[in-house]
Amino acid sequence: MSIPASLFRQVLGSFATGIVVVTARDADGLPLGVTVNSFTSVSLHPPLVLFCLDNASTTLAAFKAAGHFAINILREDQQAVSAHFARKGRAGDPAGAFGAIAHHIGPHSGAALIENCLGHIECEREALLPGGDHTILLGRVLALSITEAAGTTSRPLLYFRGRYQKLGAEH
Ligand SMILES: Cc1cc2nc3c(=O)[nH]c(=O)nc-3n(C[C@H](O)[C@H](O)[C@H](O)COP(=O)(O)O)c2cc1C
Repeated sequence: MSIPASLFRQVLGSFATGIVVVTARDADGLPLGVTVNSFTSVSLHPPLVLFCLDNASTTLAAFKAAGHFAINILREDQQAVSAHFARKGRAGDPAGAFGAIAHHIGPHSGAALIENCLGHIECEREALLPGGDHTILLGRVLALSITEAAGTTSRPLLYFRGRYQKLGAEH
């Protein structure tokens, strides 16, 4: 049975997710990042996470070459950060890769850790796996932290049916 692409997107888009920016350092040592919602935890022993990157992504080659990456979990007020790293072709524009987005370099991964995220996860690449028109990047967690900055929201940015969302009332 062939699956219509529009139905696939519609149904899979009904699975609400958080949003992360995955960062790495390219061959020239410059930081790069891409917005993804295909991030998930995989295993606790050993601690593994994964995300999937489109084979057409201009940043895939750099992620393949880099031995490490970092996950930045976006907060509900970081929609502009998500949009920034969802723009194509920043890999060829190192000066504009981060623009005004404040970050520091993670000591365990060498990848950028974006300020004010809900949490950061620094990883060593464990495996690259084929995933159809995407590549699955499996990472072993080296270090992780949660941000509880005083006076700021600790609510996540969500994605559902092609739109940004915020958490509703708690149950
Ligand atoms: C909320 C959201 C989630 C996304 N999730 C993914 C994803 O899981 N994998 C992916 O390859 N692209 C994903 N994208 C698209 C990439 O962010 C976008 O294609 C990016 O511009 C790729 O740039 P590049 O080709 O320069 O690497 C997502 C975009 C948004 C806004």
